[in-house]
Amino acid sequence: MTHQPVLYKEIIHALQPTRGGRYVDGTLGAGGHARGILEACAPDGLLLGLDVDPQALALARETLAPYEPRIRLVQASYTTLKDQLAAANWDAMDGIVLDLGASSMQFDTPERGFSFMQDAPLDMRFGPHALQTAADIVNSYSERELADLIYEYGEERDSRKIARAIVNKRPLHTTRELVAVIEAVSPRRGDRVHPATRTFQALRIAVNEELASVKAVLPQAVAGLWSGGRLAVISFHSLEDRIVKEFFRSQSKDLVNPPYERIYEEERNAIIKEVNRKPILPSEEETENNPRARSAKLRIAEKR
Ligand SMILES: C[S@@+](CC[C@H](N)C(=O)[O-])C[C@H]1O[C@@H](n2cnc3c(N)ncnc32)[C@H](O)[C@@H]1O
Repeated sequence: MTHQPVLYKEIIHALQPTRGGRYVDGTLGAGGHARGILEACAPDGLLLGLDVDPQALALARETLAPYEPRIRLVQASYTTLKDQLAAANWDAMDGIVLDLGASSMQFDTPERGFSFMQDAPLDMRFGPHALQTAADIVNSYSERELADLIYEYGEERDSRKIARAIVNKRPLHTTRELVAVIEAVSPRRGDRVHPATRTFQALRIAVNEELASVKAVLPQAVAGLWSGGRLAVISFHSLEDRIVKEFFRSQSKDLVNPPYERIYEEERNAIIKEVNRKPILPSEEETENNPRARSAKLRIAEKR
């Protein structure tokens, strides 16, 4: 089943697309947000869309075909944003949306290996650019490295037990094998979250270098905006949201007393302002219709 993209109305409201504007969707997915942006900036606004996943790009191409020639879709990581803007010959953009993480299409395609509910090879790559699969990590990291990864990226308190069990049972090749290992040492507790949820999240983050990617794109996004242009970021877990929150806070402050290591930098004025102090959350109606929206948080910044 395809849902409307998460926080759809809120994204359009945040970016306020206008005729003739130039917008970037750094995480095209099925093209839902992109379509809304193109509708709102008709008849002559432009959209540059990026996704690392060739399947997502093919889907978005179909969805967005009616908007030719106002679209330029590229299979590329949003971490290359600066180069993509240059390749499109755009001096700057009026708005950019980043809807982070995996898409419903990726979760719902069993052979991609994102879901612990379906048996599939341990892959979890968003696109072919990823250097390793989940199987590579599970079968090659030391017990200590695995425990740290599962703890840090999964915030999993049974990380040590799970890492030890993985090392004892490997090689592991499929999601079902990994789920069985986790279930044996970390049985389902009272809460509703499946015991494999956090380990799967941790592996996905590591395979796709998600946190490093978010850190890399945020300064490029701000640098690429016109004054008054907006950056809207939807995150789905606290690790991602923390990065966005801290970046926004740091860039929206005047650096009055530069810290010691910045003593040789010029004092700088804040370059963005936060449009909403607190993150915007999906409505109850949205989370009822789309449980995946439950953990979504939207933060918006405007370039000064
Ligand atoms: C939550 S979905 C986006 C859904 C989209 N907003 C829509 O309306 O359908 C996230 C998408 O970002 C893509 N993605 C993840 N990391 C990426 C990266 N570093 N660069 C570009 N796309 C990325 C994924 O492949 C996935 O298709």
